[in-house]
Amino acid sequence: VSNVKMLQLEQNGSSFSPAALNKEMFPGDSSKENEAIDVVFPLLHGPNGEDGTIQGLLELLNIPYVGNGVLASSAGMDKVVMKHLFAQAGLSQAKYAAFHKKDWSRSSEECCEQVEKELGYPCFVKPANLGSSVGISKCRSREELEKAFELAFQYDRKVVVEEGVIGREIEIGVLGNDEPKCSVVGEIAPKTDFYDYKAKYEDGDTDLIIPAEVTDDQYAKISDMAIKAFKAIDGSGLVRADFFLTADGEVLINEVNTMPGFTPFSMFPLLWKEAGIEYADLIEQL
Ligand SMILES: Nc1ncnc2c1ncn2[C@@H]1O[C@H](COP(=O)(O)OP(=O)(O)O)[C@@H](O)[C@H]1O
Ligand SMILES: [Mg+2]
Repeated sequence: VSNVKMLQLEQNGSSFSPAALNKEMFPGDSSKENEAIDVVFPLLHGPNGEDGTIQGLLELLNIPYVGNGVLASSAGMDKVVMKHLFAQAGLSQAKYAAFHKKDWSRSSEECCEQVEKELGYPCFVKPANLGSSVGISKCRSREELEKAFELAFQYDRKVVVEEGVIGREIEIGVLGNDEPKCSVVGEIAPKTDFYDYKAKYEDGDTDLIIPAEVTDDQYAKISDMAIKAFKAIDGSGLVRADFFLTADGEVLINEVNTMPGFTPFSMFPLLWKEAGIEYADLIEQL
């Protein structure tokens, strides 16, 4: 990302090219100047990496890249827009409400009342655009809710609040373009209260269960919903779709990730490995 930030490309035709990009990325190394970039695999997460901005830069440079385009990336990044699209596609999800910073500054009391009336406790408060569980809180009281709103509004002017779902966290990989295919399902079993930042990146003792134990009917439902979600955001290449499976067997979609974690130990590649596609072959396909 720091390389990209340093780019000072002029918007006059000829300098807007892969060769110019090479020149900027490898200053002083003239051997690289005319080496065209075949394809960029933007293995970047969160704002500026997964939200359509770098995808837009690559479009302008006319450089092919792996994965979701500008629209799918930005729609998948914004939890409010994503949830509206899922609702439109008829996908079941947790009840939610969206709030703008100006709602909060006008009347925090009204925002809290609306949450209590429509969603109740526990609820989850999330900045609309972020990821990695940053700025997300689980709230069990008015006091916690107020703190959670304050925190989330530090990250974004839009915040989404959801009813707390009690259930297993099930994830599935989607791969392809016009005829996307699904992987097996996996389960995340965090040892913390929820899958927060610490559990994701610091403790590292969250169990990934692959394949997850689900019935054939549940698998059919999850894979069908994952493909619908992929199409709802106009996805291409890949997404990892994340679900809750409630105790009474209900399947709710939580989110799609347009550039899922991609280390050899991450859920997405492991799901495809289990489905018979090795890491290198997965990259080759993408
Ligand atoms: N409505 C909810 N009910 C129960 N747990 C939730 C809910 N929303 C989020 N969580 C928990 O918080 C984690 C992070 O939320 P998520 O929406 O996936 O954000 P991120 O985009 O940062 O991954 C989830 O993996 C889950 O453990
Ligand atoms: Mg998540």
